[in-house]
Amino acid sequence: MKSLKALLPALSLALGLGVAGNALALDGAELYAKKTCVACHGKDANTPILPVYPKLAGQNPDYAYNQMKDIQSGARNNGQTVAMKAIMHLVTDDELRAIANWLGTLK
Ligand code: HEC
Repeated sequence: MKSLKALLPALSLALGLGVAGNALALDGAELYAKKTCVACHGKDANTPILPVYPKLAGQNPDYAYNQMKDIQSGARNNGQTVAMKAIMHLVTDDELRAIANWLGTLK
């Protein structure tokens, strides 16, 4: 019984997250790592592999989202965007939104 009691907070937390998960089903941090963004922008989104690559941590989510959409569609086509465009077929609209929201929470 004691162990069940100890489990309850963890269980309710998991359930709570499950409910929140319906609204926020996607984990921006996880996606950022999984969709290869780390390779260029750095683990903390603040240490890009090349000095000319942008730091993303703390960026305004709407701005970041729009830039990613534009890079994905080709509307933004700077000298450096070609590197990123190559992987943008890996991410959906919802995933970009989740990543953008997560980037905005970083310092
Ligand atoms: C192959 C390297 C590479 C990968 C992989 C990559 N990016 Fe980029 N990203 C860039 C470069 C380079 C730029 C800047 C393009 C330019 O010079 O305009 C950029 C720009 C951006 C911008 C716009 C920044 C701004 O201030 O306007 C965002 C946001 C971004 N990347 C997010 C991501 C996310 C999220 C992923 C993963 C889905 C990702 N990038 C994957 C290289 C990469």
